[in-house]
Amino acid sequence: MIVLGLETSCDETSAALVVDGERILSNIVSSQADLHAKYGGVIPEVASRKHLELILPTIEEALSEASTGWHEIDAIAVTNRPGLLGALLVGVSTAKAIALVHSLPVTAVHHHEGHLYSALLTSPHLAEEFPLLVLIVSGGHTMLVKMMGHGSYTLIGRTMDDAAGEAFDKGARLMDLPYPGGPSIARLSIKGDPKAVHFPRSYMGNTFNFSFSGVKTALRTHLKNNPEAHPVEDLAASYQEAIVAMLVNTTKRALEETGCRTVCVVGGVAANMRLRQRMREMADASGVELVIPDAELCTDNAAMIAAAGYHRLIHTGANPLSFDTFAMQNLEEVR
Ligand code: KG4
Ligand code: ZN
Repeated sequence: MIVLGLETSCDETSAALVVDGERILSNIVSSQADLHAKYGGVIPEVASRKHLELILPTIEEALSEASTGWHEIDAIAVTNRPGLLGALLVGVSTAKAIALVHSLPVTAVHHHEGHLYSALLTSPHLAEEFPLLVLIVSGGHTMLVKMMGHGSYTLIGRTMDDAAGEAFDKGARLMDLPYPGGPSIARLSIKGDPKAVHFPRSYMGNTFNFSFSGVKTALRTHLKNNPEAHPVEDLAASYQEAIVAMLVNTTKRALEETGCRTVCVVGGVAANMRLRQRMREMADASGVELVIPDAELCTDNAAMIAAAGYHRLIHTGANPLSFDTFAMQNLEEVR
């Protein structure tokens, strides 16, 4: 089954063609990051207008790269929640219009479910290995999810304040580094000393929740009190090290508590090389399998939406065309 995936929940306009939820024919991502960089973050109205401009050319490019015609497509999967409403509406309206014109079924996908399926898209054998422990680390969310099966999720931890990506983005802004902050900090960190400054790590007692506001405040205070004390490379590496340590240590405890034998790390921050390296060391030491998708499947993309949509079609069927968009919805409420 060939599924056309569409993703427009934030600032990436993406279209992809995926066969049976596991073979990518094309995955085109038209990023708006440069457009938003001058504002230091995503401006929702600017994002919606840009999605509108980019969505049809992006779909055409996905079809052309896959050498696939409309008659070969079996279904459409589109992100309808959570995200910026105006941005989501562009993808959803486009999906509905295509569905009507070509008489195709449509399935509405939760964005985080898409991130979860980026792991199954990378390693389809994971479908035989439930339960999986999945750390979702993106710009808007940080959570630990136990995936018991297709469409069956328990949230076992979440951030109490900033998301990990937000901590990178806000930290970068404090250091006057360009948006998006995660890649900027990661680039500089390569040449920095992660032990130069010891930023605090916050742990939320016996829970598997996260908190990143303390490390951000510590960076702000450090910059105010010691503006010239350390080169920015050392600051970036030390800041990154603190965020990575919190993510790895809490995930390790969650693995021990849940008994899961497989851990996946997904979402934009999973593109971070230091996080990938520390997770690898932790997984090897714990004797568990680790799956982290390639960087282009970690950041927002439509292939993961097509993969999640494929399983949704198989297990729960298509949506009636009256389905709506939602700015928020917990992953656990996904049915
Ligand atoms: O999943 P994503 O593309 O969009 C959301 O759903 O939020 O994640 C974007 C986030 C941004 O905060 C960005 O700074 C962060 O992922 N990010 C990174 C890296 N690449 C992207 N953070 C750390 N290191 C990276 N290499
Ligand atoms: Zn995302």
